[in-house]
Amino acid sequence: MDAALEALATTARAWLSQAESIAVLTGAGMSAESGIPTFRDALTGLWSRFNPAQLASEEGFRADPALVWNWYAERREGVRRAEPNAGHRALAAFQARHPGRVTLVTQNVDDLHQRAGSTGVIRLHGDILEDRWLERRSHACDLAQAQPGTPPRCAVCGNLVRPGVVWFGEMLPAAALAAAERAAQRCDAMLVIGTSGAVWPAAGLAHAARRAGARVIVVNPHDSELDEVAHLRLQGTAAAVLPALLDAL
Ligand code: APR
Repeated sequence: MDAALEALATTARAWLSQAESIAVLTGAGMSAESGIPTFRDALTGLWSRFNPAQLASEEGFRADPALVWNWYAERREGVRRAEPNAGHRALAAFQARHPGRVTLVTQNVDDLHQRAGSTGVIRLHGDILEDRWLERRSHACDLAQAQPGTPPRCAVCGNLVRPGVVWFGEMLPAAALAAAERAAQRCDAMLVIGTSGAVWPAAGLAHAARRAGARVIVVNPHDSELDEVAHLRLQGTAAAVLPALLDAL
């Protein structure tokens, strides 16, 4: 860290040390150094001709189930190949040193926080490695013989399997959102890491923490929509900033 950044980090460490309760809100930038593309990075390769909002939606899935299923299959493979980075590990170790003080809320659908050892992770947008049925049925659906490249379906009623993530236009899991809002309203400090702040209600958690009187610290190499609610911004990447910021606490 350069001298200017180190000076800011010293202030941030003081705020975190004084905070009885700390909330952490992470976004796709948290996993960027693990090789998982962020959502607003230009989609690469085959997917560059699609708009993520089209693919990550029920409408997009119903319009072309195989296309959307294959996009998620490729992303799932990327998550399985990825490893938690130094930022995930620093957060998990910090949480373990301060039992009961740190609540981690993530927008990410990968499992890297959990694999790094973070506990009680509040997942606002679901789990990309989880499957669920597209339609709610009164009967128990029964998986048909898999057809490669197409989503699994029910042998009886044709119901499709979809990824267990929250798509654009869908409600967030109520319990997760309520827990995240409680954490934001009760915390004395919030660390906001690797999120553009472009998507609500997740982005609103930083605003709620600020309104409730928490010190808001943003960690991001670039400007973001949450700079406006930050008391302090550490300009840098998660894997570089978080160990330097947290390992001594
Ligand atoms: N370390 C920290 N931050 C980084 C890094 C990094 N190495 N690399 C990029 N970033 C920052 C970018 O500057 C950007 O602000 O991460 C942020 C990623 O922003 P988005 O791609 O918009 O991801 P996110 O904020 O998590 O999106 C929120 O939108 O698309 C939906 O459901 C999806 O959960 C996602 C939500």
